Amino acid sequence: MEKIRYATLKDSERITELFNSNKKLWGDNNIGYDVDDIKHYIKTDLDEMIVYESNKEIVGVMLAQFWTDFVHLQTLIVDRKYRNKGIGGKLMRHLNKISRKRGKNLIEIDVEVNNDGMRRFLLRRKFKRGKSFAYYSKSI
Ligand SMILES: CC(C)(COP(=O)(O)OP(=O)(O)OC[C@H]1O[C@@H](n2cnc3c(N)ncnc32)[C@H](O)[C@@H]1OP(=O)(O)O)[C@@H](O)C(=O)NCCC(=O)NCCS
Repeated sequence: MEKIRYATLKDSERITELFNSNKKLWGDNNIGYDVDDIKHYIKTDLDEMIVYESNKEIVGVMLAQFWTDFVHLQTLIVDRKYRNKGIGGKLMRHLNKISRKRGKNLIEIDVEVNNDGMRRFLLRRKFKRGKSFAYYSKSI
């Protein structure tokens, strides 16, 4: 059985595993996610962590911040074994639906420049590529 639902704290370990399964999600910092970060995202009001369940196993996850006037999609990831079956597309449609319901009219996302798969995925869904930002960091 397939189901899209909000994550609970019980899902934290599995979600951390998915977040850390793909370095393209980390950006330049190469540090990865700690389970406490994931728990924090699940608990806070600004963030929505939404999972896709197939036969009670979490095979996809999406994290988005719902700001007053727009939605920032921070992460969308589908377990490698379950890709190209339409799950990412269903999660995106779900995000569109709940965003419109909450009165938001923009969804934005930052994507690693070499992440061709995600870039194609977004372009096919009519996302426009921005021109304004570059990433800076400094070890401290
Ligand atoms: C990008 C990503 C989330 C897409 O997830 P996905 O579940 O594979 O996405 P979908 O299956 O919905 O779409 C991918 C392609 O699969 C194919 N597809 C879609 N539905 C299908 C179905 N029912 N049967 C077979 N193939 C299908 C299509 O070719 C589709 O391409 P489209 O964009 O033209 O629709 C996934 O590749 C991923 O997790 N990547 C790594 C993490 C990542 O980089 N995330 C982005 C950074 S935040």
